Amino acid sequence: MVKTIVISGATSGFGRSCAERFAEEGWKLVLIGRRAKRLEEMWKELSVKTDIFTITLDVQDRGKVFETFESLPVDFSKIDVLVNNAGLAMGLAPAFKADINDWDTMIDTNIKGLVYCTRALLPGMVKRNAGQIINIGSISGNWPYPGGNVYGATKAFVQQFSRNLRADLHGTKIRVTNLEPGIAETEFSIVRFKGDEERADKVYKDIQALKAGDISDIVWWIANTPEHINVNQIEVMPTCQTWGPLKIHRE
Ligand SMILES: NC(=O)c1ccc[n+]([C@@H]2O[C@H](COP(=O)([O-])OP(=O)(O)OC[C@H]3O[C@@H](n4cnc5c(N)ncnc54)[C@H](OP(=O)(O)O)[C@@H]3O)[C@@H](O)[C@H]2O)c1
Repeated sequence: MVKTIVISGATSGFGRSCAERFAEEGWKLVLIGRRAKRLEEMWKELSVKTDIFTITLDVQDRGKVFETFESLPVDFSKIDVLVNNAGLAMGLAPAFKADINDWDTMIDTNIKGLVYCTRALLPGMVKRNAGQIINIGSISGNWPYPGGNVYGATKAFVQQFSRNLRADLHGTKIRVTNLEPGIAETEFSIVRFKGDEERADKVYKDIQALKAGDISDIVWWIANTPEHINVNQIEVMPTCQTWGPLKIHRE
């Protein structure tokens, strides 16, 4: 039986790489993102390999998320895996200087968008007693850093939401994982610095960051673990990334 995967944030980075990987393996894809042109290009590129349904959707829009998932074409309506990947960081300013609009966008996307997609698809999974949710958290949900303020807090939410989902799904066959990547070279920093590519490039200068393909390999592995295994949480950093000491301010 051909499986179906929903990937939010499929137009770039981890999401795009997951789409390519699962298409290669013959899974049916439901791809979500705001950039319609990219989705169209991906449809052209990947539909030679598998069946694809693309949806131009802003996950912040609660009404549209529910409307979309409630009206999926029959051939794409039995979702085996949901990858809640759509997300972003905006800005790196300290909390006392950060743009409050950026905070709203991160909360509305990383938290609300993720819970809307989950809530919309979960009843179908429960009814079929089958399915898997793979949330893309971040190491920033575990470890604080200057300027990480609301972004890290949204990812800490994703971690605890993932665990609480498991508690609610006790006794079912539905699995939930929180995958927590460290620094990875995608469009993430271009988005964070609002299109400033020079500043974004500096983030990855002279380091071997994780690549989108490293993460899609892990998503592929998680999605193919035997049914009796639930990977609760998996944290991955590039080897070049480690912890620093706690800072002590001296007068
Ligand atoms: N790169 C890293 O260092 C890193 C590390 C840890 C975790 N993460 C997390 O990994 C996930 C993917 O990030 P990435 O690194 O692959 O960044 P990316 O290349 O910027 O991709 C982000 C994806 O999310 C989509 N997206 C953003 N807002 C959306 C919205 N409101 N509705 C629908 N789609 C939306 C974007 O598509 P559209 O613009 O077309 O909507 C894009 O496809 C995010 O949750 C991020 O927080 C990234």
